[in-house]
Amino acid sequence: MFELAYTSRASEMMAPNQLEELLAEAIEFNTSHDITGLLLYNDGIFFQVLEGEEYAVRNLFANIKKDFRHYDVRTIYEQSLVQRHFKDWSMRFYNVSPDQRQQGHSDIIHTKLNETENWVMPSTAMVLVDAFQHL
Ligand SMILES: Cc1cc2nc3c(=O)[nH]c(=O)nc-3n(C[C@H](O)[C@H](O)[C@H](O)COP(=O)(O)O)c2cc1C
Repeated sequence: MFELAYTSRASEMMAPNQLEELLAEAIEFNTSHDITGLLLYNDGIFFQVLEGEEYAVRNLFANIKKDFRHYDVRTIYEQSLVQRHFKDWSMRFYNVSPDQRQQGHSDIIHTKLNETENWVMPSTAMVLVDAFQHL
């Protein structure tokens, strides 16, 4: 099992219905390709974790990178996994933008995401993954 995390910048601010559309696509594809993961959207910034067989994750990521809806795609970390973090989620999604945040998103998550946005550390991203895995 393999996992990859990246951040990117949305080409334009994503409206809730655009995010829903993107997510629906992702869920359909991921379900049929045994890919799981996490997608966060924070005011124009995406953070995504993709998990699955390495070739499947790499193929999907190559496709995602070409998507016009975002740019400045930067891999934060890649690692092999014994166990998936989001095994029950073909793509767990949270909109953590300040005006869209739902209950349960503490400020620490927001702070960590902002740090990630500044390309700090894989370890910061892992804190995020851990936090969302247990939400
Ligand atoms: C931030 C972001 C995350 C995405 N995540 C996924 C995903 O997890 N799975 C997926 O199939 N498509 C995802 N997509 C959509 C793909 O980039 C692409 O549109 C989709 O795979 C269809 O590609 P195709 O038109 O070449 O078939 C994502 C797009 C963006 C912008």
